[in-house]
Amino acid sequence: MSDEILLLSGPNLDLLGSRNPDVYGTQTLDEHVSRFRQLASDGGFSVRHVQSNFEGDLIEAVHSARGTSVAVVINAGALTHSSWALADALDTFDGIKIEVHLSNPAAREPFRHLSTLAGSVNGSIAGFGATSYELAFDAVARLTATS
Ligand code: DQA
Repeated sequence: MSDEILLLSGPNLDLLGSRNPDVYGTQTLDEHVSRFRQLASDGGFSVRHVQSNFEGDLIEAVHSARGTSVAVVINAGALTHSSWALADALDTFDGIKIEVHLSNPAAREPFRHLSTLAGSVNGSIAGFGATSYELAFDAVARLTATS
């Protein structure tokens, strides 16, 4: 079985650290990815991280995970609330899929209450700040152990 986790980061997440720190915290995306990578490595997984501000790049990254990665962990940023194309792409991936958010979109503006991805993933982790990424890795580790 593949040991690769594809970690996907959508639009504007490259600005973490300086973007709305009151909502998203002060850690950079690199810091979240490093922590995720460390946990994954300790658990015997490798991580491929792709960040893009373009929907098509994220869709192609999901395609590239087919037959290659054991899991996709995705923070799609605001595309979470609009991208049926990304949901369709996730539907083509047979492995484990976890949606992750730093903030809790359900407790924010109404447009953030819809996740187009929610029906295409095993589950969602939101609202725990940096810990959301740790919990997302934990979910992958547990689901791979039982599948
Ligand atoms: C986010 C939540 C989204 O609503 C927002 O558009 C983001 C970040 C989060 O991690 O909390 O860009 O996905």
